[in-house]
Amino acid sequence: MSSAEANKVAEGVYWVGAVDWDVRTFHGYTYTTPRGTTYNAYLVKDEKLALVDSVYAPFTSEMLKRIRALVDPEKIDYVVANHVETDHSGALAAILSVAKNAKLVCNARCKDGLEKNYYGNWDYQIVKTGDTIRLGRNTLTFIEAPMLHWPDSMFTYIPEQELLLPNDGFGQHIASCERFVEDYDEAVVMQEAAKYYANILMPMSGLVIKKIEELQKLKLSIRTIAPSHGLIWRKPEKILSAYLRWAAGEAEKAVLVVYDTMWTATEKMAHAMVEGIVSEGVSAKITRLAVSDRSDAIRDCMLMKGILAGTSTINRGMLPAMVPFLEDLKGLQPREKVGASFGSYGWSGGGAEAAEKILREAGVKIVAKPITVKFMPSAEELKRCYDFGRDVASKVKE
Ligand code: FEO
Repeated sequence: MSSAEANKVAEGVYWVGAVDWDVRTFHGYTYTTPRGTTYNAYLVKDEKLALVDSVYAPFTSEMLKRIRALVDPEKIDYVVANHVETDHSGALAAILSVAKNAKLVCNARCKDGLEKNYYGNWDYQIVKTGDTIRLGRNTLTFIEAPMLHWPDSMFTYIPEQELLLPNDGFGQHIASCERFVEDYDEAVVMQEAAKYYANILMPMSGLVIKKIEELQKLKLSIRTIAPSHGLIWRKPEKILSAYLRWAAGEAEKAVLVVYDTMWTATEKMAHAMVEGIVSEGVSAKITRLAVSDRSDAIRDCMLMKGILAGTSTINRGMLPAMVPFLEDLKGLQPREKVGASFGSYGWSGGGAEAAEKILREAGVKIVAKPITVKFMPSAEELKRCYDFGRDVASKVKE
């Protein structure tokens, strides 16, 4: 099979993106990408030629090479920008300098962003929801998706192929030679899709539900969902139903115990709590943030109903590793969580209370007052921690 055939997504539609095996962080170091990522661009080869999305600028030549294997890029008629963010628009200037007669198709908000990012003198064609461009056998249909995840975000749909190109929606950060979910490890894809949802889309969960319901009302037939990162879904119901669950705040009856410790006192408390949680038949996971991946912890928080945040006190506040995690959580606003805080102190307390304050601001329903211990926990205090874990587990089971 030729590489072009291996990258065939639908009749006349080809993946012409790039694989970034090396990227390890995204969005200003807030999101780790240990598996790398792809920047997916799609070429529609019809009577007219259309390129949907592009790639991050350092990968321009990789994309152009893939396009040249299929068509002469000078002959591209339309370049669609579903989203202004640089990882998808970085190669626009290069492709438009080759495809000199191409229209740059995007919505008004995207045009605004592209102008402010690139200052290009480009031939724009502004579209809105419901607008179409006929290419021959295939039609590009546009569906704006504001705040999923930027104001300019847009989906392109090709009804003749039952193909949805939703840009960042339904993506995962995975670098691979495979293009389709079924050719990869599906459990890994779902894990990465959950991490992506939790860290990028979770605060827009209400809009996610509305957009999926809108697609259902439009009765769009969708056989394939080809996002702008990672692998392509040929069984779209799996990711659509997962998005609806995550957006609704449905989670496993389990508790994430996330903490940091200075001289092990808070750690001992965390472990006693987990014993209490497990004794109630509820699962738990311990994550010490100083040695763990923060964006994985955000994913786990989304997937588990309960959260216990623990910290030793330093300077009347939290240990530094706790702060970015809880601040992220506050911004991401997870739904339907129950939780509490805990921690040790030496003279003045304050760490556990500071953690509780941010949990509240993140929308977590606080189900117990913070439990605190001076210096090392005694056997009696560890029993209190065990009971605290049991109490929280009983709330998670409700
Ligand atoms: Fe919103 Fe993949 O960029």
